[in-house]
This record gives sequence, structure tokens and C-alpha cells, in this order.
Amino acid sequence: MPKITFSTTGQTYEVAEGTAFLDFCQEHDAPHAFGCTVGSCGTCVCVVEAAAGSVNAASTDELDTLEMCTDAAGARLGCQLKVHGDVTIKPAD
Ligand code: FES
Repeated sequence: MPKITFSTTGQTYEVAEGTAFLDFCQEHDAPHAFGCTVGSCGTCVCVVEAAAGSVNAASTDELDTLEMCTDAAGARLGCQLKVHGDVTIKPAD
């Protein structure tokens, strides 16, 4: 099963393949902030370290929102993220 690790706390969770990161965080009170939950506010921005294919590809709309809120390499919107393999979630400073 894929694992989600939060770099800020060191906590690691096993999740089902294809789990929506938003759903996981809401169900497990995980340490990640969300706002709109639909990919437009940028509150959930984070840096994802993952092997190729471990997360879904960013949509054009997600890339547009990311462009407005960060230039961090590996940045993603947590509310748009689906987990297919091991990932580490870091703050997007
Ligand atoms: S919660 Fe608003 S963009 Fe993800």
C-alpha cells in the first residue's frame, strides 16, 4: 500500500492506492490546511516528493492556481492530489 509521510511531524500513514489526499486528511485529522477544496484558493499548496507515477498529473487549472501562489519545485495543491505510491508532503514556504 502507498504511504503518505508528513515531513513536519514525521507521521506516516498507509493508504489505499488512488486515495484522494483531501479525503485522507479530513478523515484522519492530518496536519494539512485546506480552504476551498476545489483548487482555486491555494491554501493547500505543498511540496510533494514522490517517484514518477506516485501521484496524479496536475491539471491545467491546478497549474494555473499554483503559478499564482508559489514557484516552489514540486508544488501541488493538496486538494487535487491523488496518491498512487509513496509520497512525502512538505510545506511550500
Ligand atoms: S483548498 Fe483551495 S486550492 Fe486546495
